[in-house]
Amino acid sequence: MKKILLTLAALGMTLAAVAQPQLRADNVEEVLKAMTLQEKATLLVGGARAAMVNGVTSGVAANVPGAAGNTRPIERLGIPSTVLADGPAGLRIQPTRPGDSNTYYCTGFPVGTLLASSWDLSLVEDVTKAMGNEVLEYGVDVLLAPGMNIHRNPLCGRNFEYFSEDPLLSGKMAAAYVKGIQSNGVGTSIKHYAANNQETNRNEDDAIISQRALREIYLKNFEIAVKEADPWTVMSSYNKLNGDYTQQSEGLLTTVLRDEWGFQGIVMTDWGNKAGTVKSAKAGNDLMEPGNQNEIDRIIAGVQDGTISQEELDRNVRNMLNYIVRTPRFKGYQFSNKPDLKAHAAVARKAAGESIVLLRNEGVLPLKGTEKVALYGVSSVDFVAGGTGSGDVNKAYVVNMVQGMENAGFTLDKGLVDFYNAFQAYDKAQNAISGSAFSWFSRRKLTEQAIPDAGIANEAKANDVAVVVLGRNAGEGADRKMMDDFELTAVERELLQKVSSSFHAAGKKVIVVLNVGGVIETNSWKNLVDAIVLPWSPGQEGANAVADVLTGKVNPSGKLPMTFPVNFMDHPSSSNFPYNYNANASRGFFWGPRQPQKDVDYTRYEEGIWVGYRHFVTRDVTVSYPFGYGLSYTTFAYSKPVVKAVADGFQASITVTNTGSVAGKEVVELYVSAPAGGLEKPARELKAFGKTRELQPGESQTLTLQVSAYELASFNEAASAWEAAAGSYKVQFGASVDDIRATAPFTLKKAQNWPVHNVLAPQEK
Ligand code: BGC
Repeated sequence: MKKILLTLAALGMTLAAVAQPQLRADNVEEVLKAMTLQEKATLLVGGARAAMVNGVTSGVAANVPGAAGNTRPIERLGIPSTVLADGPAGLRIQPTRPGDSNTYYCTGFPVGTLLASSWDLSLVEDVTKAMGNEVLEYGVDVLLAPGMNIHRNPLCGRNFEYFSEDPLLSGKMAAAYVKGIQSNGVGTSIKHYAANNQETNRNEDDAIISQRALREIYLKNFEIAVKEADPWTVMSSYNKLNGDYTQQSEGLLTTVLRDEWGFQGIVMTDWGNKAGTVKSAKAGNDLMEPGNQNEIDRIIAGVQDGTISQEELDRNVRNMLNYIVRTPRFKGYQFSNKPDLKAHAAVARKAAGESIVLLRNEGVLPLKGTEKVALYGVSSVDFVAGGTGSGDVNKAYVVNMVQGMENAGFTLDKGLVDFYNAFQAYDKAQNAISGSAFSWFSRRKLTEQAIPDAGIANEAKANDVAVVVLGRNAGEGADRKMMDDFELTAVERELLQKVSSSFHAAGKKVIVVLNVGGVIETNSWKNLVDAIVLPWSPGQEGANAVADVLTGKVNPSGKLPMTFPVNFMDHPSSSNFPYNYNANASRGFFWGPRQPQKDVDYTRYEEGIWVGYRHFVTRDVTVSYPFGYGLSYTTFAYSKPVVKAVADGFQASITVTNTGSVAGKEVVELYVSAPAGGLEKPARELKAFGKTRELQPGESQTLTLQVSAYELASFNEAASAWEAAAGSYKVQFGASVDDIRATAPFTLKKAQNWPVHNVLAPQEK
């Protein structure tokens, strides 16, 4: 009898081992039970890194060439390989395939910073609906986007991918972005979670941040996006945060993300292979990307020696299975490889035009569109549509300023156009000879050229107006520099001076177009010129959109999502940001052990919550252009606001009237000043915003905005709780953080608090 039982048990085990349920949306538990340890470990580790050929990742490992990564299939159980590809300014895949005459270009949409400058959530959703359609139709399951780290300092090399210095604006933008993409039935990966605020030594740098600054500034935007938009995935960052790699931080990935915010999807690593695979899996990092066999082996060993429990392993595998059943790949979607690129280009152009920020306009814009224009600057031909690195979309074309201006009907000074085109061709030929052409991490940009005085004097006579394009390219893998990047170069400065004096002497105006990926210095030169237009990096239709604004076809309605300081050092974070970092001198690879280097191996966020306008406004530091600032070709009047208490906070309404002579849209920003006493607070903080529809002259619209008590709360480290103090709050409607147009009080009768886990405290260095 005993023998029979044993045989039956053995048979049962064998049957279980070979049980082959096929994955369905409703049998995740059954499939989980049927998986072997080897299969479970395999599912937690992505496909191997795709090869990089001529600056493009080849997709041998990733079923869609050029996609950044994939998940591994388990055919026995009907688990397909799903495909992950970058973002955020569009889908990044390889545009051509060997032996295939079709092309696979994707639309280059405006970068994150330009989208945020729209302050328009429905515009962002329209853009990402179109972008997500390309994700779906090119056979990709998850777009590795949006990038949403806070603009802590102007020099972060990837700021152009990110939205804002303010967590509310960043979080709302990210939520709209996620909703648009996911409305196509494909996923997003909000990144890089968290505190990946510099590129210098991004793999190892330890961001040391107070719990308050972390909760209020660096996690708040992720909290909003997770709670409002349910992203399918979150990407943990490369860096450390308060001592742990973020991808190995249980406090970050499980306690805060899942237990407190209710995140339901999967967490994947950013693209590396850290040795602590088991620690990552245990902390709640479900997927290692890209993966390799070592990681599979480590997970198996970790389960066998008990470092990671069966329950923890199963938790991650269950998350993966629940993710996979949502994907188009799993559902067998027949993608076309033929998204409507023409329609999407129109979306990109419209979005860029409506997001452009007009910084200055002393009686020159809009132009008629028929003027003779002297177009200066190498960036008029070497126009930057996006940035470099993983965020660079392989688009079919980029409309540069020469083409954009000509398309709009302007007549360009031929001598200048020929000069810049010839210089670009010469530079290209030189690079072909030296072999130093564009590489993935490269941020090559034509260097600005001096123009002889006599030439400028002639051009001032022969043309109606000057347009000077100043450009900057930035991207993944390196931070920008203070000199000759944040600051203008000597040649650029001289060009501006000479063009301004010659054109002004001839009674003509000068317009500057800032084709930049991040904030630059403007205070020292802005008064030299008559207008400044800021399109950031506006995507493939870029200069068409700039021309739309120059001619008034589009009335600009963008506003700054960050502050333009007078000096770089005015940002408190500048004193602990690697702005004079010298890679060769500091790494010390060949000189043996060395002291950990501040701002390279660790960065203490000494400024705490005093990031961006929170610092400038509270401490009354003069800025060049404040947060939330942007001009229009019309003017708007704000009514007296009506603020009333509702069950959970307050509701505030304001009527905005177009008092000028052309149609336009207005962004309205709601700031709140908290009652005195209790925690020290910024003088005012953005708590809500809205944008009117296009208002005709004389037309009005009432905007109603809602702010909950929780949104009024600040983080008290001592109590490990969010606290909203009782008392009188000043509700302010502004056209920028420095231009408050209307104010009303709101009283919170009873103090409220929301305790959270005491996690992620800094460990002293
Ligand atoms: C970047 C991510 C990107 C990933 C895949 C990493 O180096 O930091 O933003 O999604 O590569 O390309």
